[in-house]
Amino acid sequence: MAEEMEKKPKYTAIVLAAGSGTRMGSPVKKQYMELCGLPVVVHSLRQFEENPQISSVVLVTGKEDLQYALSMSLKYELHKVKNIVEGGDMRFRSVYNGLRAVDPDTDYLLIHDGARPMLSQELIDRCCREVAIAKACVAAVPVKDTIKRADKEGFAAETLDRSALYSVQTPQAFSYPLFVEAYRKLLHTIQEYHPDVSKITDDAMIVEGMTDRKIRLIPGDYRNIKITTPEDMLVAEAFLQWKNTLES
Ligand code: CTP
Ligand code: MG
Repeated sequence: MAEEMEKKPKYTAIVLAAGSGTRMGSPVKKQYMELCGLPVVVHSLRQFEENPQISSVVLVTGKEDLQYALSMSLKYELHKVKNIVEGGDMRFRSVYNGLRAVDPDTDYLLIHDGARPMLSQELIDRCCREVAIAKACVAAVPVKDTIKRADKEGFAAETLDRSALYSVQTPQAFSYPLFVEAYRKLLHTIQEYHPDVSKITDDAMIVEGMTDRKIRLIPGDYRNIKITTPEDMLVAEAFLQWKNTLES
């Protein structure tokens, strides 16, 4: 008798584009600024669109941009963008709103900053491969600078051991049931203790704090920068032009 075919795991991406971009300070929000002819967020949406492992994408935007995001997904033929949902006032709330729109049939989630346009197929593939093993993994690169901790007066208090320090990027990938459990616990904790939720700057922190699961750091990419301040646009443009020359 033929062996039963193993079900192919289902990967869903949540792409976050609901921030207000205060550090960029531009009239158009950074995730919608034009970068080499496309809105910043469309660059990573296209990478998910092209990747055969990704079944669907949930796009999280500001309430005022829902309509724009819909026309953008039609214009650029982003067929995998099945849901466009309203974000929240903090990143983790935007993730939560995205999470509620995820098909419960999903096995693994890849959460990605819409402000990181330099996502590559290799990095998506690596996340998909590693999360199936580790259940929780984040793209990270070794820091290049020496990092010091400052005291309250602005003096160097301590130099950290650089060999153990990483800059964390996205995608951050998790098993779907694990991530749902972490969020359920987080929401309970918030109701009971009012912790300082403004300190939550990535998704892995929630899984670290709420479950026993260890987060695997997997190789990210120095090119996978987050557009944060105006000069980042120049850097991203240079990377994209370089990539185009390599491909043509
Ligand atoms: N983000 C979000 N919802 C929020 C805050 C952030 O979806 N409430 C998204 C941003 O759109 C971005 C990613 O999370 O793609 C990373 O956040 P960050 O770089 O901090 O973007 P902003 O919060 O928009 O920028 P700033 O902190 O300078 O205001
Ligand atoms: Mg922010």
